[in-house]
Amino acid sequence: MRVLVDGDRGYIGAVLVPLLQRAGHEVVGLDAGWYDGCDFGTPPTGYEQRTGDVRDARPEDLEGFDAVVHLAAISNDPIGHLHPEATYDVNARGAVHMARAAKEAGVPRFLFSSSCSLYGAGGDAPVAEDGQFHPVTPYGESKVMAEQAISPLADDDFSPTYLRNATAYGSSPRLRADIVVNNLTGAAFTRGEVRLQSDGTPWRPLVHVEDISRAFLAVLEVPREVVHDQAFNVGRDEDVVQIRTIATQVSEITGAPVTFAPGAGADTRNYRVDFSKIRALLPDAEPRWTVPDGIREIWAHASARGLTPEDFEHRFVRLERVSELAAAGVLGLADLRTTAVPA
Ligand SMILES: NC(=O)c1ccc[n+]([C@@H]2O[C@H](COP(=O)([O-])OP(=O)(O)OC[C@H]3O[C@@H](n4cnc5c(N)ncnc54)[C@H](O)[C@@H]3O)[C@@H](O)[C@H]2O)c1
Repeated sequence: MRVLVDGDRGYIGAVLVPLLQRAGHEVVGLDAGWYDGCDFGTPPTGYEQRTGDVRDARPEDLEGFDAVVHLAAISNDPIGHLHPEATYDVNARGAVHMARAAKEAGVPRFLFSSSCSLYGAGGDAPVAEDGQFHPVTPYGESKVMAEQAISPLADDDFSPTYLRNATAYGSSPRLRADIVVNNLTGAAFTRGEVRLQSDGTPWRPLVHVEDISRAFLAVLEVPREVVHDQAFNVGRDEDVVQIRTIATQVSEITGAPVTFAPGAGADTRNYRVDFSKIRALLPDAEPRWTVPDGIREIWAHASARGLTPEDFEHRFVRLERVSELAAAGVLGLADLRTTAVPA
């Protein structure tokens, strides 16, 4: 297949692109380039990388593709809190714009990278795909808005699919330090302590970045009727865990003690998710990683590649990087549009 992946130069994209290439697909990327040069390993090469904003994509740019994988987004609650309007603009309106352009260009498949955070404060029972949305952040709201606006575009010639990913973890050439497993493991490495920002009681569904990528591949390769206008929670029941359990695992594996940041309190983003649908319909997407293996992987890469506190606390933290680009005058905070990104 010829696949356009937008957001290809981010955390998930840098793992997904080589996976698609290895599976024999031709990839073209489209990315605003926010993380160019913020490397934790060698980013993928050997494919066409377009630089641009998804909000400017034209149907003629998407002609000849068999699928669009839409990753580009403000992928983070802290940025969403600071810039809610820009988050809705990129994550909801930008996603719908891409879907419309893809449909107009005759692209038959559209894979939307959604998030389990649209379930928000879901209560104690695990939520399945037909459960209620209770997003508690602009980021979660933006994913609801996008799914609800893309779904009416589905027809005989256009099949959108919504992959509601659990919180990712694991190594990537474009590592992120602002997601819980990576954050706690990186803190153990750079500070010698497993530093909790909340009281550790909330539940989080987790999934390795490589397993997310394999779920995208599985959706691309199954017959369209299995995934036409369907949502899938991407993750595994065993990996819905309390944050304090992750902290204990990181501590046991790395030897660093668990500590609490000043004022660490409750966290309203507390949700448990049901993953039976993906297990039944997309067996190729069955996750292979476990959280302890992911902790060991990040620790090993941090040791081999020399993870610095500067990278861990700034370049690999989305809010920090966005602020850095804004201070350099290449990113407008009101609309999150870039001019030229310095490496
Ligand atoms: N990482 C997770 O834990 C997680 C979990 C669930 C869902 N998701 C979703 O998966 C997708 C990818 O996440 P990620 O972790 O790789 O994010 P990321 O922040 O690492 O990468 C996002 C990429 O999108 C690009 N981008 C941002 N705005 C753009 C725009 N307007 N036009 C073109 N490019 C733009 C950035 O330059 C960046 O390379 C996002 O939609 C995110 O919401 C991520």
